[in-house]
Amino acid sequence: MTQDELKTLVGQAALAYVEDGSIVGVGTGSTVNKFIDALGTIKHRIAGAVSSSVASTDRLQALGIQVFDATEVDELGVYIDGADEIDHAGNMVKGGGAALTREKIVAAQSRRFVCIADESKLVKALGAFPLPVEVIPMAAKRIARQFEALGGTVTLRQKDGAPLVTDNGQHILDVTGLKIEDPLAFETQVSQWPGVVTVGVFAFQKAQVCLLGTETGVKTLVF
Ligand code: A5P
Repeated sequence: MTQDELKTLVGQAALAYVEDGSIVGVGTGSTVNKFIDALGTIKHRIAGAVSSSVASTDRLQALGIQVFDATEVDELGVYIDGADEIDHAGNMVKGGGAALTREKIVAAQSRRFVCIADESKLVKALGAFPLPVEVIPMAAKRIARQFEALGGTVTLRQKDGAPLVTDNGQHILDVTGLKIEDPLAFETQVSQWPGVVTVGVFAFQKAQVCLLGTETGVKTLVF
């Protein structure tokens, strides 16, 4: 199976976690796009969605699914999203699609995080994928130096020859060379640096379930 087929498989499998009549938390990325397409086939059974990005909102609305603002909803039963890396405890690195801040917000509003991913995303330890960090631009250089002091190498993410601007009007640093041995401690530490909007380690908002697309079908990991 191709990686794309594995993404389709887990996107469809995630429908099993959608309750009738509910508002569903929806993440961002190519795997979630498969889930959104699958959600379109049962749109009459749900009340709508809360989305984590402009891109996902556009895709949901194009399928006729109502998108609610996060402030209109108290608590969501389930949040379904992909990951750039997920470890064997459900901790993740996210933000490859630059939507990490809204993803963390919607995940925090949800009782359960169901991660959908192809098996290439399952890792022993986080850190091989460049860690996305959303930052306020005036703090970017100092934050870069703080990561360098931890042994990291930092790149300011670009789009069309200029720094990428997120849905929240901020910039993204991608950090390689870090050893993230204790994801919870790392997330706690970096989140306190002035100017960091969101660090792409999801340990506080880790997954409770991962639907992993493998050659032999969907494996369900429960954390
Ligand atoms: C978006 O900002 C990310 O957190 C995505 O969830 C993550 O990058 C996974 O994306 P893919 O499903 O496209 O690999």
